[in-house]
Amino acid sequence: VIDIRKLYAEGDVFTYDPGFTSTAACDSAITYIDGDKGELQYRGYPIEQLAEQSHFLEVCYLLLYGELPNAAQMQDFEHRVTNHTMVHEQMHYFFRGFRRDSHPMATMVGVVGAMSAFYHDSTDISDPWQREVAAIRMIAKLPTIAAMAYKYSMGQPFVYPKNSLDYASNFLHMCFAVPCADYVVDPILSKAMDRIMMLHADHEQNASTSTVRLAGSSGANPFACVAAGIACLWGPAHGGANQACLEMLREIGTVENIPEAIRRAKDKNDPFRLMGFGHRVYKNFDPRAKVMKESADEVLDLLGIHDNETLKVAKELERIALEDTYFVEKKLYPNVDFYSGIILEAMGFPTSMFTPIFAVSRTVGWISQWKEMIGDPTQKIGRPRQLYIGQTARDYVAVNDR
Ligand code: ACO
Repeated sequence: VIDIRKLYAEGDVFTYDPGFTSTAACDSAITYIDGDKGELQYRGYPIEQLAEQSHFLEVCYLLLYGELPNAAQMQDFEHRVTNHTMVHEQMHYFFRGFRRDSHPMATMVGVVGAMSAFYHDSTDISDPWQREVAAIRMIAKLPTIAAMAYKYSMGQPFVYPKNSLDYASNFLHMCFAVPCADYVVDPILSKAMDRIMMLHADHEQNASTSTVRLAGSSGANPFACVAAGIACLWGPAHGGANQACLEMLREIGTVENIPEAIRRAKDKNDPFRLMGFGHRVYKNFDPRAKVMKESADEVLDLLGIHDNETLKVAKELERIALEDTYFVEKKLYPNVDFYSGIILEAMGFPTSMFTPIFAVSRTVGWISQWKEMIGDPTQKIGRPRQLYIGQTARDYVAVNDR
């Protein structure tokens, strides 16, 4: 038996693996994925059971501490998160420095990065208490920051958190309440939002999580690491796919235009891809997409939305792609973002808020992974190698001789 860890430690192995398609960069006991079977577990619990029986804050506890909480632990955790939902009042000025029509993700990258300036009493990563406070602060404040970024982009006043509400309802309240009208959170929307958050909470070593780990491996503080994760998540091949997917559906416009979109997606000379389809790891139906599809149907039915053209295009595209040999053979199934985009659209969120909502949900995963890495005594700074393909050594030529 080859001891691969030993070979690596001795520097005897050099792999070339662009995109890290087959390289494990760490040990982790948080999330398990079997891409061929389409299975996902958080700390051993199947995602389907959690989606059915748990709720987002309980999943946060599970991801962070490794076990489901008992009633007292849950109450204490909820209390701690609820006590940290406000952001420092001075942060309002920071928001106001951005252009009024900034994309909420742009604002979030900046504001979350700046948390290390506002909360520098929890940036010493050698202190377990400070690490814990930083984790709770981020889980508690990210919804507030995302909602503020949204309100700012809309030119509406910020809405303060309402701590009598549960996590998902509070987020909806901060996004949709306005001082001039009553707003009561619809429990159907709150349940759907909680589910979106649960299903996006962690997904092992995806691009943004790997970014958080890589940034954290140098000893950077957790706020800076999560800001790096948010920046990575923004890309359309990752978290930005839900926004890109809805924009694509709108561009397709009507059901009659779907065959042309399918034709373009298959054309190798055309950069067009069906956004919301395909996944690096899942070569079977994404289990999160299955749960999300049920939620999407439920939300659309309960809200009585049946005549929205974008949603009609989505349903028909899904049907056609699932029967098309190109997509079937390449195992390109609709992913979680295809359905989360549909739900968020039905809820009334603009597409620019789709990725910030993903960021709010993934924060607990980023922090859990960061915490696991920091607690590992064998952890090293992340430092990928390269295959150099540039010039061989040559002599410098003075500017007038070039
Ligand atoms: N539409 C059309 N063709 C596709 C698509 C798509 N969405 N996705 C993959 N393919 C094709 C590729 O052209 C390639 O074809 P080839 O073998 O003939 O060259 C083949 O399927 C494999 O694709 P890769 O790009 O090698 O797969 P990879 O694992 O690198 O990419 C990714 C996965 C980035 C998710 C890709 O499927 C994609 O771009 N999807 C659209 C964006 C998206 O929805 N991203 C969200 C991912 S989920 C998440 O972040 C939560």
